[in-house]
Amino acid sequence: MASKNGRKAVRCGRCRPRGHTAARAEKQAPAALHALADSWPQPDLNYSRLPTLTGPRRCSAAVRCTLQPMAMIPGAQGYSEQAEQLVIQYESISFVEKHRAVLHLLPDAPCDVLDIGAGTGADAAWFADAGHRAVAVEPTAELRNPGMSLHSASSIEWVDDCLPDLSKLSQGRMFDLVMITAVWMHLDENERATAMPKVASLLRSSGVLTMSLRHGPNARGRRTFDVSAEETVQLASKYGLRCTLNVRTESARQFNRLAGITWSRLAFSF
Ligand SMILES: C[S@@+](CC[C@H](N)C(=O)[O-])C[C@H]1O[C@@H](n2cnc3c(N)ncnc32)[C@H](O)[C@@H]1O
Repeated sequence: MASKNGRKAVRCGRCRPRGHTAARAEKQAPAALHALADSWPQPDLNYSRLPTLTGPRRCSAAVRCTLQPMAMIPGAQGYSEQAEQLVIQYESISFVEKHRAVLHLLPDAPCDVLDIGAGTGADAAWFADAGHRAVAVEPTAELRNPGMSLHSASSIEWVDDCLPDLSKLSQGRMFDLVMITAVWMHLDENERATAMPKVASLLRSSGVLTMSLRHGPNARGRRTFDVSAEETVQLASKYGLRCTLNVRTESARQFNRLAGITWSRLAFSF
């Protein structure tokens, strides 16, 4: 749907299809998230398009719409539409549970950490709270904005950017730890080939890169490729990255385990 100024009208991910009720929103999102949405200043939202809702509690999260230019990032397909559930999902799992396979490789001393495709920044917040300097790159505004609010107490530098180019990260910037968790399989072959040297260039000589690749049925509405650990190890080796960990784990989330989803957990160093 195009508006008068030629911009594409997109739902902001916080608004619902017709028929949605505040009661249903209440069931899906905990009170804290509603409170967050109620207090969330959104200067770029077009409040004139608010539909009327009825229900036991008026839920701002359920009624906000926006007209924004659509940023077309193929790999991020599906995330804005499902953002409200995903915010809850991403915030509901502990860092240790999620990253058990790579915990022993993470630096202890305060250092520079880059989380690419950070979602709501739960991992970046964990690092920031542990004294690291954390940068969260996240292209999906509907995840990044609630993440910024939810983790406002943590000292995170947020960047609206995406692979393969990460063009908004200033030239020459380097990190001790780069995490790419559940993102790589959203890039097509060309994007992966472009992204790997970029990622390698961001890593200090003593740095660690961790990646996770999802295997199994695709999530509905997402663009996902079948990317193997072997292919990724081979691609990384072209840029001097040596694989130090390659394990297959089951999913930390029960509903993903039941769906037969497994993960490759990879780590690399120079
Ligand atoms: C499955 S989520 C993982 C989020 C977070 N890393 C976590 O573990 O909770 C995938 C994330 O990658 C982001 N993403 C998709 N394509 C991307 C790209 N080309 N560059 C950077 N991030 C991307 C999505 O917006 C989404 O936040």
